[in-house]
Amino acid sequence: MEWLEVEGGRPLAGSVRPSGAKNAALKLMAASLLADGPCVLGRVPRIRDVEAMRGLLEAVGARAAWSGPQELAVHRSGELLGELPEQLVGALRASVQLAGPLVALGCPVRLGRPGGCEIGDRPLDLHLQGLAALGVRVEERGSWWELYPPRRLSGAEVVLEYPSVGATENVMMAASRARGTTIIYNPAREPEVVELQGFLRAMGARVEGAGGPCIRIEGRDALEGARWEVMPDRIETATWLLAAAITGGHVEVAPAVPQHLGAVVQALQEAGVGVSWGDGWMRAEGASGGRVRAVSIQTQPYPGFPTDVQPLWTALMTVARGVAVVREEVYSRRFGYVSQLWAMGADIRVEGRHAVVRGARLHPARVQATDLRGGAALVLAALAAQGLSHIGGLSHLDRGYEELAAKLAGLGGRVRRVRSEPVPA
Ligand code: UD1
Repeated sequence: MEWLEVEGGRPLAGSVRPSGAKNAALKLMAASLLADGPCVLGRVPRIRDVEAMRGLLEAVGARAAWSGPQELAVHRSGELLGELPEQLVGALRASVQLAGPLVALGCPVRLGRPGGCEIGDRPLDLHLQGLAALGVRVEERGSWWELYPPRRLSGAEVVLEYPSVGATENVMMAASRARGTTIIYNPAREPEVVELQGFLRAMGARVEGAGGPCIRIEGRDALEGARWEVMPDRIETATWLLAAAITGGHVEVAPAVPQHLGAVVQALQEAGVGVSWGDGWMRAEGASGGRVRAVSIQTQPYPGFPTDVQPLWTALMTVARGVAVVREEVYSRRFGYVSQLWAMGADIRVEGRHAVVRGARLHPARVQATDLRGGAALVLAALAAQGLSHIGGLSHLDRGYEELAAKLAGLGGRVRRVRSEPVPA
């Protein structure tokens, strides 16, 4: 088993390049199926989730191959096979995003029902309702759903009860090749949705309104192949800003899109962290005089505070001056990582959907990542704790962070991957 060995207590300093956004790249890969010609995606992160999606695209009958270090070529070449088994949907939530393009192409889909995951139950009702509105017959079969599309989907009005990111994207993709006009009311406004709109347009789709209160899609008979450069990952960018904050260092992140991180910047500034930005870059400088102030946050759909940054914020608050309340409004269980922070001396009380965090002094420990962003929270805590920590469960971090240890080392962090079992701290 591999571990991340982190010698904490040293400020990070320097500049770092975040990878392309995982949550955009995965959807653009799925959307590439809609094009009749080949698509080429640039700045695609080399992470486990992207490899899983690449495998899935091949499994449904497309070609998806690396054509450069960060460049992926996707081409739907022949017949498609819409089998998305339960294990895959459980392991890679974004696999659900293949359903929209597949039904748009008239391919029936067998979709495994994902179980609850580490961060809460994640039903698919909104995805299925959206696709049903476009004419897909949805049949429930024990641990499966079967989706039977007509030869061509029909545009419709889709009102989402909740602005689900994935459901919004599935309906956008399906509607882009439907007959007639689709309007999605109450869509998710996340930057990744706007990115998908940009890519669909590059393929010749008529989509407008992403990022606002409704999205309008006029379906086309055919879409063509396109090239697209994936936007920088806003959650990774936030990770670097918080790493500067928790170590009292200074880190510049480029390329970055400052507008994507308004809520996080505001919380950092309230905490006393110096944040500056310009066109394509952001920079954070640890609080003057050391520790940050405690700041309470609650997660919300975009443009609110991102749920994916919640565990990182909790980690920062474990060393803050004062008491912060962290409220999770998007997922039903997203505090699983807290027990690992306890092992490092954190003072956190979890009550249902919120955590009360009292600033304390962390000590190094041997801990286990149980999910992607919870794992990143442990890395931040280890950077703050004076001494040698070991983080296991790296497969979770590898799902979403490319070259994490190397990037941390580039900022002066004493971090490396080790194979041997560490001596208990
Ligand atoms: C995406 C991101 C994930 C991020 C989340 C919210 C990807 C691959 N993942 O996930 O990192 O945390 O957005 O910003 O892009 N829900 C339902 N029914 C549905 C769909 C969702 O009840 O049919 C609920 C979910 O259980 C969850 C909430 O809605 O509680 C948000 O989910 P959603 O916005 O759909 O997130 P994802 O697209 O799965």
